[in-house]
Amino acid sequence: MGHPAVTGTGPYEAVVFDLDGVICFTDVYHYRGWKSIADELGIPFDETINNRLRGVSRMESLEIVLERYEGEPLSDARKEELAATKNERYRVMLGDMSPADLDPSVRTTLDELRGRGLKLAIGSSSKNATFILERIGLGDYFDAISDGTNITRSKPDPEVFLKAAEFLGVEPERCVVVEDAVAGIEAGEAAGMYTVAIGDAADQGAGDAQIGTFAELADVLSRLDG
Ligand code: BG6
Ligand code: MG
Repeated sequence: MGHPAVTGTGPYEAVVFDLDGVICFTDVYHYRGWKSIADELGIPFDETINNRLRGVSRMESLEIVLERYEGEPLSDARKEELAATKNERYRVMLGDMSPADLDPSVRTTLDELRGRGLKLAIGSSSKNATFILERIGLGDYFDAISDGTNITRSKPDPEVFLKAAEFLGVEPERCVVVEDAVAGIEAGEAAGMYTVAIGDAADQGAGDAQIGTFAELADVLSRLDG
């Protein structure tokens, strides 16, 4: 996407980033969107449940929210409607995001990795990925985007990351995945990629390496290059 061809000289040629919880933070918007639906159905909803939605597709997220639903069974059409309503509300909140929501250290680190010759891609379960990237000023930044619009199976299935590697033209074994969801780390492992955990996944000790801040990624990858 407008970048010169690059050649990785170390064992890794590309880095595939999860979006929500790694490049930017949309948790609070997801939380508010699902909470509004849960409230309307009289379902208890809290941060613990919201955490379980990390990396999971929209419809699977709805099923998790509905685990505590005690009303009459809902038809598939009604479930589709609930997910669509949540998404409409979520998109309104995403509309308030701007480049100011991109942490400068994320941008600096991405630029540094690209400067080293690594290809950079997104591997996200979200169908809103390109919209979010545009909002935060990274609309045309990545060499490839694999997201909820091009997969049929959600993380922990490796499909989204294998597609990212395919779009980049890089072997999966030559890719590093950066993820905040345990399901995402599992997906990266299943894809045969080196996995770096941040946030919740790092707290749980998942992945081949764990980082406390995005900027630490530059050091982790330097060590891999030996
Ligand atoms: C992931 C989020 O990135 O995208 C999940 O971690 C979310 O919480 C999933 O459910 C699907 O998002 P969207 O934007 O397609 O509803
Ligand atoms: Mg995530």
